[in-house]
Amino acid sequence: MAGYSASPAPKAGPTGAKRIRKPEKLTAGTAIDWNAVWKEQSARRSVKKRDVTFWNQKALTFFKKPWESNYPEDFVRIMEPRRCWTVLDMACGTGALAIPLSKYVRRITAADFAPRMLEALAEQCKIQGIENVTTINASWEDDWAAKGIGRYDVVIASRSLVVDDLQHAIVKLNGAARERVYISTIVGDGPHDRKIHEAVGRRLSPGPDYIYTYNLLHQLGIYANITFIKDSRQERFPDHDTALGYYDNFLGKLTKAEKKELRRYLGEHLVLKNGKWIFDYRRTTRWAVMWWEKE
Ligand SMILES: C[S@@+](CC[C@H](N)C(=O)[O-])C[C@H]1O[C@@H](n2cnc3c(N)ncnc32)[C@H](O)[C@@H]1O
Repeated sequence: MAGYSASPAPKAGPTGAKRIRKPEKLTAGTAIDWNAVWKEQSARRSVKKRDVTFWNQKALTFFKKPWESNYPEDFVRIMEPRRCWTVLDMACGTGALAIPLSKYVRRITAADFAPRMLEALAEQCKIQGIENVTTINASWEDDWAAKGIGRYDVVIASRSLVVDDLQHAIVKLNGAARERVYISTIVGDGPHDRKIHEAVGRRLSPGPDYIYTYNLLHQLGIYANITFIKDSRQERFPDHDTALGYYDNFLGKLTKAEKKELRRYLGEHLVLKNGKWIFDYRRTTRWAVMWWEKE
């Protein structure tokens, strides 16, 4: 665990992030710089940060996941959305949240750096007759004002805080919000199946989970509410080859030897039930949802 090391203060945006306390005010040697610890732990992630090309590719199959999840419904319920709200959904993906949330709020701006994600979201909105969602192609790192991202009643970042500088991202989110901010992040291994990693001989180091984020929020003077979503998903595949292709992509291009080990593992653990191949064990993915009101 790192001791306190001063990191440069994030630039307070023009939109009022200045209420956030600067960690530099903490006494050197007596406090942990949680942003620095988070960065250290992130650098050890075995699942590396993905680029636009990866996410664009992923967008093609985002609606065809081999499982159904209660996550979007639970997240929207936790938000207790209000009809009058304008919402920014940062790193929205194909709209796992923007789509269900659009029924409960006035307007949603959905931003993502992957154009294919935004296209898939726009397509879904068209299919479902949703007219209160607009998209902006923007990244965490962009100048949000230049991209047309203004201020919103509520700002959300769901499962998408995969950034180089967590503190900087939180300051940006907070600055864009007038009333509330909701973020969610992994608990423990998150969506990664440790058994599969071990079966192919890879070390799983999922990176810093929610507790690092929560500690950083506290250090910034944000005393966030926290609750957990239990996502009891069970993957279902039509055949072993589809399962193999899915994990090849999820783990990030397997070698020939790793593929052989994965095939062996799938052979041992996939069982046929109602015409689909499922694992002979259940896995629970937990997500931490943290939210706070602007003061
Ligand atoms: C795991 S998905 C989450 C999508 C959605 N928020 C959800 O909860 O289902 C992560 C999303 O973050 C986006 N993303 C990753 N890095 C980004 C960055 N630097 N700037 C903006 N979006 C990014 C990806 O394109 C992807 O859509």
